[in-house]
Amino acid sequence: MHQEIGSLQKKASTNQIPPGMMRLIFLAIVVSFVSAKTVDLSFRKLKREDFFMNLQMQIKDLHEVTDLNLRGNEIDSFLDCSTNLESLEALDLSQNHLQRFFFLCKEEYNLRVLNVSHNKLEYIDDNALNDRIPKLKILDLSFNKLTVVNETMLQYLTILEYLSLSHNPIEDGIHESAFWTLRALKHLELKNISAPYFSSDFFKTLTNLSTLDLSWNPIGAIPLLPISLQELDLSGTQVITLENVYLPQLLELRLNYMPNLTSLVLNELEKLPSLQILSLIGCKRLTQLSLRPQFVVVLPRLQRLSIKECGFESLNIELRALVQQTPVIELENNPWRCDCKLEWIVLLNLTRNISQDIRCYAPDQHHGKLLAEIPNYELQCEYDSSILYPILWTSLSLLIISLITAMVLVLLKRPISQWSFKGIRNGDTVAYKNVIESNNDLVRILAVSEGHECNEE
Ligand SMILES: *[C@@H]1O[C@H](CO)[C@@H](O)[C@H](O)[C@H]1NC(C)=O
Ligand SMILES: *[C@@H]1O[C@H](CO)[C@@H](O)[C@H](O)[C@H]1NC(C)=O
Ligand SMILES: *[C@@H]1O[C@H](CO)[C@@H](O)[C@H](O)[C@H]1NC(C)=O
Ligand SMILES: *[C@@H]1O[C@H](CO)[C@@H](O)[C@H](O)[C@H]1NC(C)=O
Ligand SMILES: *[C@@H]1O[C@H](CO)[C@@H](O)[C@H](O)[C@H]1NC(C)=O
Ligand SMILES: *[C@@H]1O[C@H](CO)[C@@H](O)[C@H](O)[C@H]1NC(C)=O
Repeated sequence: MHQEIGSLQKKASTNQIPPGMMRLIFLAIVVSFVSAKTVDLSFRKLKREDFFMNLQMQIKDLHEVTDLNLRGNEIDSFLDCSTNLESLEALDLSQNHLQRFFFLCKEEYNLRVLNVSHNKLEYIDDNALNDRIPKLKILDLSFNKLTVVNETMLQYLTILEYLSLSHNPIEDGIHESAFWTLRALKHLELKNISAPYFSSDFFKTLTNLSTLDLSWNPIGAIPLLPISLQELDLSGTQVITLENVYLPQLLELRLNYMPNLTSLVLNELEKLPSLQILSLIGCKRLTQLSLRPQFVVVLPRLQRLSIKECGFESLNIELRALVQQTPVIELENNPWRCDCKLEWIVLLNLTRNISQDIRCYAPDQHHGKLLAEIPNYELQCEYDSSILYPILWTSLSLLIISLITAMVLVLLKRPISQWSFKGIRNGDTVAYKNVIESNNDLVRILAVSEGHECNEE
């Protein structure tokens, strides 16, 4: 008998089950999976009818089950009235084909965790997240097709702590007051929901929020955020400045893959005094990190700075104090130019060796080498034409302008007479001679003036 069940279970997983055998198969499964009031029926290609009509009859004490895992099946709707899940605390319906789910039949459920991510939900029915599940603490609605989060959708979830709406095409479909009743919320995921902006009012009642993910939305500005935040993800957004962001408790800030970020002045982060982790990975256009000297120490608690895979060719020496005080710095895979401007990194006296993480991209003779392998005297700066030409042109223009000015002055008689005197007094007569030869009137005037001056002396 045991052997038979074993072989049937194998068949169940390959999912070519003759309908008549269902009872026996699931009896075997249920027997082996009901333990500590947990029922695991994940990844069995169950349809709605399989669960509600056949399977649940086999589960002894279904009303005592606290943990029901139906992940990875083919259930397209879930109605509590068709089952008896009195004690249910955690329900995993993720990775199904759900279009609807309802909690309608019992006065009040003990449900604390509901995972309906990776389904086909287009809207949340009024009878889905209602006053019958007031104990819900964790709700995962990610990877669905929701376009609206209106003001009534979440209104009963007053002790909810975790909410994910990530990867839904919500765009600007979040109502301004949609989150206002979620006063216990600690963790909010709004990643990749195509939101063009987040209203400053969205988060205003979320005074317990500690983790917020706004990444991969086409936002250009940072909304007003709860000051309780400890973790913030703005990766993949079009934000270019962090000025005026005041988050005294923030520990981790992720600014990865920011397409529009070209330079960052770290002084903008001075209102993040607790920050321990700053991550700027994969910002391809980011070429400048600067830190203006100022009285207060910027980022005094920083433990980890990641600037991997960005566009950095060099790091300014003004970052020296920060680099010295930060225990972990990740700098790999930038197009580093190993020249005199990076020499300060080699000369740092650190226990860890960050010059071994810098692989040179330029100049050609150092391409592919580690900064640490290059002797200091080879770290030279060649003045490249892009800087040299403007300088040349500027000097040339200045020269021409001064020549013209000189000529104008020569033509204006009075000024030149006064000017020339100083030269003569220093015993420099060469210029004077030239003037004499070129202008007779001037010679006369000069001669008179000279005599005058001599008299004075
Ligand atoms: C919900 O289920 C998905 C996939 O089945 C999983 O990745 C996710 O972590 C779950 N959510 C929670 C909050 O546990
Ligand atoms: C919110 O959306 C649900 C589902 O689409 C709808 O039934 C309900 O009436 C909406 N509430 C408001 C206030 O518009
Ligand atoms: C965002 O969602 C779209 C589909 O809605 C998907 O194609 C894209 O890969 C997602 N982006 C990220 C960064 O997850
Ligand atoms: C970010 O860059 C893209 C393309 O380079 C541009 O269309 C967009 O307007 C920029 N966004 C902001 C906020 O500057
Ligand atoms: C480097 O630092 C160590 C202690 O961390 C110190 O003993 C040593 O003298 C320093 N070397 C230089 C060249 O400053
Ligand atoms: C750093 O690495 C270079 C090259 O490997 C080595 O010469 C140098 O002694 C190292 N310095 C420290 C402090 O480990």
